Amino acid sequence: MKQSSRIFDLLVGLGLLGISGLGLLYFLINERFEWIPEFALELARDPQILKRPKAEKCSECHKNIFEAWKESRHSISWTSETFIEASENRSKEKCLPCHIPQSVQGEKPEPRMDLRDEGIYCVSCHFIDNKMNGPYDLLAPPHPTYRNPDYVRSGFCGSCHQKTFKEWKATKVEDTCQDCHMPRKKGRLTQKKGLNLLHKKRWVGDHRFLHGKITEKDVILETGWEEKFFSLSLKNNTIPHFVPTADNGDPRLYLYIQFFNDEEEEVDSAKEIIAPQQETALPYNKKINFRYRLFDPVSKAVVELKYQPAWSKDKQPVFSKAVTR
Ligand code: HEC
Ligand code: HEC
Ligand code: HEC
Ligand code: HEC
Ligand code: HEC
Repeated sequence: MKQSSRIFDLLVGLGLLGISGLGLLYFLINERFEWIPEFALELARDPQILKRPKAEKCSECHKNIFEAWKESRHSISWTSETFIEASENRSKEKCLPCHIPQSVQGEKPEPRMDLRDEGIYCVSCHFIDNKMNGPYDLLAPPHPTYRNPDYVRSGFCGSCHQKTFKEWKATKVEDTCQDCHMPRKKGRLTQKKGLNLLHKKRWVGDHRFLHGKITEKDVILETGWEEKFFSLSLKNNTIPHFVPTADNGDPRLYLYIQFFNDEEEEVDSAKEIIAPQQETALPYNKKINFRYRLFDPVSKAVVELKYQPAWSKDKQPVFSKAVTR
């Protein structure tokens, strides 16, 4: 009886020591990592991480970020069928830099020679001077890191999204590309058992690089009737770059107008292509006007806007509105 209670005390004691040890380690890693000696860090380093590995290697710890990136267009920038077609089976040299970048650092990158199927991957965007650059000042035992303020600036994305970046800059809107396309949520950077308990929660940017949605609040329609004319205007009210915007892709908005008479018969129709490649994309905060001559008596117009991304032939509805005289 006495003996077993002593063993019990001992176990509780060891447990408490373990917990306080863990607590101390948690405190050191998150708050006072400059106190952790270099030799201890050497033991924790994984040299494979600094050999420009595939994204899968990073997923051993950054599982959630990896899975998000996998869903992004960046992960298929080299294997995308529409890209293969447009680049003549990837034979055009000038198409390589942004689609298989070696290292992103604020200017047009150099193309890389290896692991091309990885597209725009973790190493392209984070590995500079043998360290994983990112927005935080932190301690990652498995690899060196470096806090680099560029990661929360639009100029980082502008390395490749060059035209969009220029458009954005001209609007003087403060929201960055990351604010809208990588919205942040509280979470852990690593999901690896053990490490996930030792690192506190932080803000994590969405690595799906969300496309963004257009609604009738973003592109505002106004219409007007005259004796022999129907006029309308579209205004990009909220999106601080052209809509659509592109460097080399061909995303489009299609505007369809159908005219009906009193008998609900279609008497005429019109179509507009609103696309950066045709220099008709909608600039930020500026009304673009269209005017149609009416030849027959018309009592109703139906105005429909559809969006087609650069990498698909599917048109998605944005809005459809009936306007009566
Ligand atoms: C197109 C470039 C790009 C690619 C590809 C990319 N990242 Fe990031 N990453 C960023 C940017 C930009 C941020 C800063 C986001 C923020 O916090 O606003 C970031 C942030 C991070 C952070 C810090 C947490 C955070 O969100 O701030 C980690 C960890 C990270 N990335 C890991 C990865 C891993 C692992 C991969 C591959 C699976 C990857 N990244 C792919 C650009 C990229
Ligand atoms: C063995 C686990 C492990 C592996 C593998 C790993 N990391 Fe990390 N990484 C971490 C930990 C732990 C942190 C810090 C987490 C924290 O403090 O919240 C971190 C932090 C980061 C950061 C944030 C840096 C900053 O200063 O903001 C980036 C970026 C990053 N890792 C990129 C990568 C990339 C890219 C790979 C793959 C080439 C990779 N990591 C592989 C464990 C790992
Ligand atoms: C290395 C060059 C490069 C960098 C840096 C880069 N991108 Fe991209 N991005 C591309 C390419 C190339 C594509 C097209 C991939 C494809 O679909 O084949 C793309 C696609 C996208 C898309 C999807 C567009 C669509 O039509 O669906 C978004 C959104 C995006 N990037 C946002 C960002 C943001 C935000 C950043 C900065 C954090 C960024 N990108 C940094 C090259 C880059
Ligand atoms: C205020 C939020 C906001 C900001 C800031 C923003 N975007 Fe967008 N972006 C959107 C929305 C919404 C869409 C969807 C509408 C569209 O397709 O144009 C979009 C679409 C895109 C697309 C898809 C192509 C297209 O137009 O169909 C790319 C690429 C893109 N943005 C890149 C960027 C880059 C790069 C920056 C920074 C220079 C940036 N965006 C800043 C909201 C934003
Ligand atoms: C300066 C960087 C850059 C260069 C160089 C570049 N692209 Fe891209 N490309 C992008 C970005 C950024 C996107 C994302 C959408 C957009 O802005 O068009 C993209 C998207 C695309 C898309 C639409 C997405 C897809 O997968 O279908 C195609 C097609 C494309 N590029 C073809 C090309 C071709 C062909 C070349 C060579 C003539 C080329 N690109 C060179 C940056 C670049």
